[in-house]
This record gives sequence, structure tokens and C-alpha cells, in this order.
Amino acid sequence: MAYRSFRDFVDALDRAGELRKIDIPVDTDLLISEWANREMKSPGGGKALLFEQPVVDGKVSPFPVAINTMGSRKRMAMSLGRESVDEIAQEIQLILKAKPPTDLREGFALLKQGLHLLHARPKQVSSGPCQEVVKIDNFSLNDLPILKCWPKDGGRFITLPHVHTRDPETGARNVGCYRMQLFDERTTAMHWQVHKVGARHGKIYYERGERMPVAVTLGGDPAYSFAATAPLPDGLDEILFAGFLRRKSVELVKCKTIDVDVPADVDLVLEGYVQPGEMRPEGPFGDHTGYYTAIEDYPVFHVTAITHRKDALYPTTIVGIPPMEDFYIGDASVRIFLPVFKMNFPELVDMTLPAEGVFHNLVFVSIRKQYPYQAFKVMHGLWGMGQMMFSKYIIVVDEDCDVHNTSEVLFRLCANTDPERDSTVIRNPSDSLDHAPSIQNIGSHMGFDATRKLPGENHQRPWPELLKMTEEAQRLVDALQKKTR
Ligand SMILES: Cc1cc2nc3c(=O)[nH]c(=O)nc-3n(C[C@H](O)[C@H](O)[C@H](O)COP(=O)(O)O)c2cc1C
Repeated sequence: MAYRSFRDFVDALDRAGELRKIDIPVDTDLLISEWANREMKSPGGGKALLFEQPVVDGKVSPFPVAINTMGSRKRMAMSLGRESVDEIAQEIQLILKAKPPTDLREGFALLKQGLHLLHARPKQVSSGPCQEVVKIDNFSLNDLPILKCWPKDGGRFITLPHVHTRDPETGARNVGCYRMQLFDERTTAMHWQVHKVGARHGKIYYERGERMPVAVTLGGDPAYSFAATAPLPDGLDEILFAGFLRRKSVELVKCKTIDVDVPADVDLVLEGYVQPGEMRPEGPFGDHTGYYTAIEDYPVFHVTAITHRKDALYPTTIVGIPPMEDFYIGDASVRIFLPVFKMNFPELVDMTLPAEGVFHNLVFVSIRKQYPYQAFKVMHGLWGMGQMMFSKYIIVVDEDCDVHNTSEVLFRLCANTDPERDSTVIRNPSDSLDHAPSIQNIGSHMGFDATRKLPGENHQRPWPELLKMTEEAQRLVDALQKKTR
């Protein structure tokens, strides 16, 4: 069942014992962030938190703050209405099974067709709860409980926005999650990085010299937040994808001051525009990387209206030294899209992006190896696929290694590689947030083949056998140990 509202989801978390409500006033200036960071660092991601009296500049905001709502495997699955996100992977596999695609582009094209067939297409409606309150002149962004997350942040940041834009040439919609630094009562920064679809749409508007309408939504069915962060290929509509995830078409309503449609059930809508060429310094910001990202110029977002539910909640997150809530969001993306990866790489058994790598810094892949240099083929394939292009280190292991066990992968890496023979260094685009490359957005990436070597892979000696106890000895010791308990 799709959630009727973000509050509906928060109530479900509460019933499942996954929510802690904080009914005392807590300041949005660092204190909610410190509280949430402690929760995110507790085993399994702790609980979701609802701050019922968030304080902004000494005043209690009318909008309670919800944070860490997706910060565990269980809550991530609950946000998508499933027991486990692997169920969604199976559903995607079924769509793709009808006619197995020959490559990734075809895989996503089939997925798109499948989503249409599943009636995931959005429906237009004339009104919705997100417009229960409409403020065109009498609003201030200071009314929102926007967090200052880390001490040296350049200000307050909206961290879980869904930014809705359109390609002015094709009309294709995009929804991305790009943080927004509060500048004043009516303007923010728009931190779409150069590789992202929002930035591509923006570039077309700038070239045409046209003002770009942008709507930012917060809350609603949590499937929207996942869809906005998911690395979908440019052109696969996040609203269609969200409809598939929640098994219910998204109802869209037209904004009051701009020609953009937004989901009718969201909590808050910031309507506005980006003016071609207008840039302003953004940052610093305590980022996913665990470091502050430097001040850089980003487009300015002018807000022309705020509409909201009467009982709106303000969903947010913080990022920082892992593990944080975003690890579970990224982990769900990898697990959900694994069938699409497998279509492209039939040898791929499993894949994960461990928390320590903050998404793209570290990728573990296991493969069923059949021929020499297959591990390198898989690395190069991954480096050519969408946001996987940012992967800084890729370690490929054999299928009998559990990629979710970092210690097991490191053991294989150390034991099975001759560094010179089994590594490769390539040049590729880098994540804009990565501070290590000498030049932003470009850098080197490294792959390790930690699989056992086959003839033809330049290993001239017999490959040794991995230690393994006999099943019988294991059974006998199980029985003996039971007797001594
Ligand atoms: C909590 C969170 C915050 C994010 N903030 C940003 C951001 O400020 N800028 C950005 O370009 N990407 C950010 N991302 C990553 C994008 O949301 C992600 O790359 C998404 O796939 C982009 O969508 P797009 O391909 O439609 O542009 C963030 C992701 C998460 C989970």
C-alpha cells in the first residue's frame, strides 16, 4: 500500500517501534544534527527521530523535523512499502525477463516500457493537500526548520529536497535531490553538480537565455525521496519510477506560480525559478565525504511561492563521516538495480558499495569468472555506466567471496593479487565532491583483480587451494559443542 502522506509513513515507523519522538524544544542550529548523528552511528542505524519542537532563531517552528527515516535496512524497505528492497529487485527482474535486453540502454528502455505497462504513469489532478496553504507574498524561508548541520557550514541547508525540472527541448521531466543553502528569506543556492540532469537542463535554459522554472518538494510518499536520489539514466522519469515503487500512480497537481507539476500529496512545495547566468558562492558544507566541501559558485534559486499541507512535516537528513543515513539509500539503489547490472554483465554475482567508501569511492564486485581478464572487462564496463563512472576503487573477487563482508574482500585482495599485474589505473570523470584529485571533476580510478588467476593471466605457477574444513568434521564438532553447552 502506498503511503497517503509523509506523516502516514512516520506513523507506520512509530507503530513498528522505529521512531523516537522528541517533544522538547531542540535548536536547528547544530543540536538536531548532533542528536541525529549519534542516532545514525548507533548499531544498525538507530531509530528515526521526530523533533516536535524544532527551534529556529529562538522560535519554535510550526513544522516538526523528521530525520533518519530511511537510516536502516528495515526503514529503507518500509519507505518503499516492502519487507526488503530485494523484493523490488525481483519485480524489476520479472519486467526484464520478458525479453532479455542485450545491453544496459536496452535494459533501461525495457524497464521504462514495463513501468508504463504496470500503470505507473502519473495522473493529473486539479487540487491536492500540498496546496492546502498557499503563500504567494507573505512567506519567508526562515519559517522552515532548516538545519545548520556542521559548525563550519556556510549556513543552513535543505538536505532532502526533490528538485523538479524539465528539459525545455524534449519536455522530459527530472527529479533530483540537490542540497540548497539558504541565502535569505526568498533565495537559496541550487547545488546540482555538473554531471547531474538538473545541471544539464539548466545549461539548455542558459543557452536559450530563458528563465528556468523549478519546483522543490519536500516529503509526501517517501518513495519520492528514493526516486530523486536513485541514479536513474537521464530520461527515465522519476515520477513514473516512484509510481512503480509505490504500486500506485503519482497524482500530479500544477504549481500556483510556475508551469511545473508536482506530486499532490507532498508536504511542502517551494515554487520558483533559476535565472540564466546568475551564480553565487555556495558552501562550505560538511559533506558525504566526511570533509567540508569548499565554497564554489552555484545557481541561485528564487522562491516565488510556498504551498504546504496544514499539518506538514519537514523531512531532512545530515551527511558526514560514515555510516550515515545516506548509506542505506545508496545500498538500496545498488540492490534494486542489481538485475539491470546483471543483464549487462551475466558473470556478475553480487555487488556492494561499502559505507567506508561513501558511495563511489569503493566498489566490491563478485563474478563467476570464465576467461582471462574478465575482471578487467567488468571494471571497465562499470566505469562506463552512469554514475558508476565515479567509482574510485573497484575490487573484483570470485563468486565464493561475500562482498558484504569487507574483511573477506580485503583478505582476497591481499592474498590473491600481485599489485602490478592485477591492478589497472584509468582516467575518468570524478565525483565533484571528491577533494583528492588535483583538478575537480576529473581523476584516476583504480581496479584490482582479486580473483584466482586462470591460465593466460600471467601467473606461471599452480594456483593453491583455499582452506576449507570437511563438512563431516564441521557436523561432528557442532554436535560435540552442543553437548558441552
Ligand atoms: C542526501 C543526499 C544529498 C544529495 N545532495 C546532492 C547535491 O547537493 N548535489 C548533487 O548533484 N547530488 C546530490 N546527491 C546525489 C543525487 O541526488 C543523485 O546523484 C541523483 O541520482 C541525481 O539525480 P539526477 O541523475 O536526476 O540528476 C545527493 C544524494 C543524497 C542521498
